[in-house]
Amino acid sequence: MGVFLRTRFARYWGKKDDVDFLFNVIKVKGKSVMDPFGGSGSLLFLASKFGASKTIYVDINPYAHYLARSLLVKSKTNGVVTFIDSLGSLIPYVKNSRKVEAEVGEIYPSDPLYWEDDECYLDRSKRERCSPFEGEPLFWYPTYPLRYADGTPFQKRRQVERVDQFFSKRALIVLSYLFHKISEIGEDGRVLLISAFLSSLYQSSLMARANGGSWPVQCYWIPRKHIERNPLRVFLRKLKIVTNVNSEAPFEEAKSFDEWDEGKALLIWNDALNVLKGLEEGTVDVIITDPPHFDEIQYLELSFLMNSWICSKECLEKLFEEEIVVNYKRKRRLHDYLRALENLGGLIREKGIRKSVFLLHEEKEEVLESMIDALSRDLKIEKDITIVASKQRKVGARVKGVEGRTYKVVVLSGG
Ligand SMILES: C[S@@+](CC[C@H](N)C(=O)[O-])C[C@H]1O[C@@H](n2cnc3c(N)ncnc32)[C@H](O)[C@@H]1O
Repeated sequence: MGVFLRTRFARYWGKKDDVDFLFNVIKVKGKSVMDPFGGSGSLLFLASKFGASKTIYVDINPYAHYLARSLLVKSKTNGVVTFIDSLGSLIPYVKNSRKVEAEVGEIYPSDPLYWEDDECYLDRSKRERCSPFEGEPLFWYPTYPLRYADGTPFQKRRQVERVDQFFSKRALIVLSYLFHKISEIGEDGRVLLISAFLSSLYQSSLMARANGGSWPVQCYWIPRKHIERNPLRVFLRKLKIVTNVNSEAPFEEAKSFDEWDEGKALLIWNDALNVLKGLEEGTVDVIITDPPHFDEIQYLELSFLMNSWICSKECLEKLFEEEIVVNYKRKRRLHDYLRALENLGGLIREKGIRKSVFLLHEEKEEVLESMIDALSRDLKIEKDITIVASKQRKVGARVKGVEGRTYKVVVLSGG
């Protein structure tokens, strides 16, 4: 598996994993590198390929943490094997998807099921309808509304009110069972299992379409024609990929700054500005980062499908508070976003971080200019390069004109 395929093992929006050229612009060999908005961890993964000696990853999104942890730090896998064994009676069901009695009941008559206008069929040609399904999930699953703490509906929400409504009863039976089983196992292998579970949720949801890939549309909606995959199969496929990706993870995990030696990555789940404030001067040589994309990608909102399984309602609300983003429904304005970038620049200078590279993905010229101004208030611009990416997927959620391939790389110095 090449670098590109490794970093693409799960969907994360606006990944930057085709930016090898950056490492000609800035040398990281033997240096300590930080990504304060690490997302799926791709930039630090690339930095490891170019010789970074140790890294710090920060992000406030718990889903992103699981992806980054799977990509960057080696995990023990004995727990994964034990887990698969413990699934017991579900396994034959995977080998033979036609009617097998599973621990959670007789659930999926075929894989996938085809839905059209709220009718379920066993095959694409709609010859046979699914028989009515009556089962109920035995274990917990999240039922949070797609609303912000003040009750305002999510910007990206379409017809659905609660997060569980993206799944059929069948799917919830399997998913809640799997999640319950995962929560029973110890630390060993847990990260990989949760990563696989979370990254399988979209494909197990009613948002998935035949040949639709992994979440091509950046909003919550259930298409008129969609498919319903057996979540256990999706999960096991993801688990295989995640385990494979992790087998070549470049770093050992440091649990704290005291353990943060060569060859180690420290992963911090927190607000980037908070982490920078607490950083000892001279700890980090280089920052390479791709900060939140203004109003284009609502990271926490899109990750709600996943995070609702691993965070309580209070925890989710706190995360939303800390997110740096522009969202007018949440009264997060450009002004707040630019202030955060200014503070970031100030902290980078204060902490003696000599070089920082920012990938700025914004196609509104005046906004881009104000982002660069904010960052360079306390730092000096060394280089400012416009890039047209070859592999970048469409990033923006705006209707017109944003193809998402062009972005700026700004190199700043001043620590
Ligand atoms: C453009 S993405 C990074 C994508 C990443 N380069 C990749 O390849 O996957 C920006 C990230 O900033 C995170 N973020 C937003 N506000 C944050 C904050 N206050 N502190 C830390 N991370 C934050 C988002 O969760 C998101 O993952």
